[in-house]
Amino acid sequence: MLILDNTQLAIIKERLYKYSGIFLNDSKLTMIKNRIYRLMQETRIDNIDSLLSSIESNLKIQQQFINSFTTNKTDFFREYFHFEDMIDRCLPALFKLNKPIKIYCCASSTGQEPYSIAMSVLYAKKLYGSSTPVSIIATDIDTDMLQKSAEGIYTIDFKIDKFPDWFDINEYFEPIEDKTSSVPLFKVKDKLKSMIAFKQLNLFDKHYPFMHEEFDILFCRNVLIYFKQEDQPKVLSKLIDTLCINGTFYLGHSETLYDLQEKFKKLGNKTFIKIKA
Ligand SMILES: C[S@@+](CC[C@H](N)C(=O)[O-])C[C@H]1O[C@@H](n2cnc3c(N)ncnc32)[C@H](O)[C@@H]1O
Repeated sequence: MLILDNTQLAIIKERLYKYSGIFLNDSKLTMIKNRIYRLMQETRIDNIDSLLSSIESNLKIQQQFINSFTTNKTDFFREYFHFEDMIDRCLPALFKLNKPIKIYCCASSTGQEPYSIAMSVLYAKKLYGSSTPVSIIATDIDTDMLQKSAEGIYTIDFKIDKFPDWFDINEYFEPIEDKTSSVPLFKVKDKLKSMIAFKQLNLFDKHYPFMHEEFDILFCRNVLIYFKQEDQPKVLSKLIDTLCINGTFYLGHSETLYDLQEKFKKLGNKTFIKIKA
């Protein structure tokens, strides 16, 4: 097992926080050692002090360092009640306004969340006979995750993965032949891909490349939990600024809006409507 002294450990935690806002507490020692060990293999730098100085001076290695510390757990239709609310309440009301709809999904990981949003939108358009244009922007800090999302290739196992009743795999995916894979692989169809723009964005950036009140729907789920409590409202207020009045905000199940909740009407299930700028 890799040996890290207290100074090296403190540098790793401080750098990760500086670059990404991700905060690791002292209980994460084994995880830190494992991830640094893997990064040393990946970068072929076998001396910890050389690795730490490369992380600061070499942007590619810095990005690999960030990528190696993100937690990317996600699923198709995770916390399904948000997709259900979008289909039953939010989208039909937006379709009636007859103007293009813009959705922002931050911290989109390997892409299952924005693709679930796109599938729900296509299903709702069919259900309500709408031809309203809908676009989705999906961002993450992790470049490996963005690449996987853009490829759009997934294993789907109906025994493990949960899908809504209306989900029809042939409608949204095509099977791909891969003799090297022991599990069936599926590629998302172009009609889903063409709805989504994947971009890199660090939620700690001072300014986001979006306009004030640009989006009708905002998904921010299961990412704030990796940040310090005192940083969460700062990130949230930049995100909320991008959501229009009457826009819907879907938040992760263990996350909170802090004082910013006074800008929202609460619908339950971590679903909020923005009522104040
Ligand atoms: C657990 S995943 C959540 C995925 C998805 N939102 C969901 O709920 O299934 C957390 C994601 O947050 C991303 N992340 C962590 N820090 C970030 C930051 N500072 N800016 C943008 N994304 C970040 C990670 O790369 C990771 O993909």
